[in-house]
Amino acid sequence: MPKITIAIDGYSSCGKSTIAKGLALKLGYIYIDSGAMYRAVTLYCIQNNIIKNGIFNEQQVLDSMNHIHLEFSVNPSTHVSEIVLNGKNVEKEIRGLQVADYVSPISALKGVRGKIVTLQREFGKNKGIVMDGRDIGTNVFPDAELKIFMTADETIRSQRRWKELSEKGLHVSAEEIRKNLSQRDYDDTHRQHNPLTQAKDAVLLDNSSMSINDQLDFVLKLAKERKAN
Ligand code: DC
Repeated sequence: MPKITIAIDGYSSCGKSTIAKGLALKLGYIYIDSGAMYRAVTLYCIQNNIIKNGIFNEQQVLDSMNHIHLEFSVNPSTHVSEIVLNGKNVEKEIRGLQVADYVSPISALKGVRGKIVTLQREFGKNKGIVMDGRDIGTNVFPDAELKIFMTADETIRSQRRWKELSEKGLHVSAEEIRKNLSQRDYDDTHRQHNPLTQAKDAVLLDNSSMSINDQLDFVLKLAKERKAN
């Protein structure tokens, strides 16, 4: 059966990656976490003092893109792809609140997006891919055969993110997480270049009161229908 492209977009912490990973595993597709790419660029800028005391110079960030090599490697125990920045797996480092605080302004820069989007399209050129993010269905893969737009109640999303970070040993207050989510949602939906918005042909999935299994069943059914067509 021919392979399709699946784009999953939505607000911060509404479970996009859980569903995207599960779907990719079930279909035997590649999974790409596009947010991890913007997070890795942000981490590089923090580590190299390009972001200092919350301030950065746009040209310096753009210049740094020439020194950033991003790829994904599959973790043999989970079978899920993880982000590698200049040869180092940074999957854990990019999840902290320091990166989360600056990733939206960094990802809003046109020059950063241009390079990252080119790479994302390269990853998806043979289809058979599930990519999650903010502009996948609207900009990266506008012809994707299946587009899902995910959302959930903000309090539920904050609780989920708190649990996820706690399980990874990262201790952040619930209030800090809620503030960060709400700020990122605002920034991501209001930026000039490719803001987060639901593609006209995307299927809306509000998972506020849905189990992960129910969500997976829902998207898997859609994926099978789209593959058959
Ligand atoms: O999915 P995430 O929370 O890891 O994404 C981190 C940030 O990266 C998010 O706040 C906005 C940005 N992003 C983007 O601009 N476009 C994407 N396709 C994915 C993420």
